[in-house]
Amino acid sequence: MSLIIAIDGPAAAGKGTLARRLAAHFALPYLDTGLLYRATARRVLDAGGNPADPAAAAAAARALSPEDTERTDLRVPQVDEAASQVASIPAVRAALLDFQRAFAATNGAVLDGRDIGTVIFPQAQAKLFVTASAEERGRRRWRELTARGVPADLATITAEIRTRDAADAARTAAPLRPADDAMTLDTSHLDADAAFARALELLAGKV
Ligand code: C5P
Repeated sequence: MSLIIAIDGPAAAGKGTLARRLAAHFALPYLDTGLLYRATARRVLDAGGNPADPAAAAAAARALSPEDTERTDLRVPQVDEAASQVASIPAVRAALLDFQRAFAATNGAVLDGRDIGTVIFPQAQAKLFVTASAEERGRRRWRELTARGVPADLATITAEIRTRDAADAARTAAPLRPADDAMTLDTSHLDADAAFARALELLAGKV
């Protein structure tokens, strides 16, 4: 099997930055799987639908096109919550499964998400569970939003992150949890360079 590196963990833990760097380092394609759920949610919201409605959300997931994931309005608080809602619907997850597997089939991949090591690629050679304290993750998300000019209140953002993680971990369909064979990387006190260096150490014996 081609090399697959699975990166899972809660919101704003630094998964995307790390996964992108690992992909460049190992010359692998990179897939941010959160974008699939965000784009699904965006389609439902744009159509005036309810992201918690299984039929509307599943239809949106089945109709997803690559352009949907390239939209610039996917990383905003309204979509954070709606993405988590559509992601709890089994038919939505089923509709997005084949795309994720096919993405890595030929050349391998680095994928980040919530269920890459548990459901999408349980046989991945290397699995990292990337986490950080909720306070630190709230600060990172707040900095990212304000840098992009999106108005954000730190306490509200941190509370929303806690709520979303709790929902992602409590759902029955592919809940957020480390795979049994995942290596945990806590980035609370690590900047992006240090997190990358630590990830390479952890992966050394695996890839
Ligand atoms: O990673 P990101 O914050 O962009 O993900 C948005 C939401 O999509 C998450 O809160 C989660 O509910 C869902 N998601 C998921 N499984 C994945 C990736 C994202 O359920 N593999």
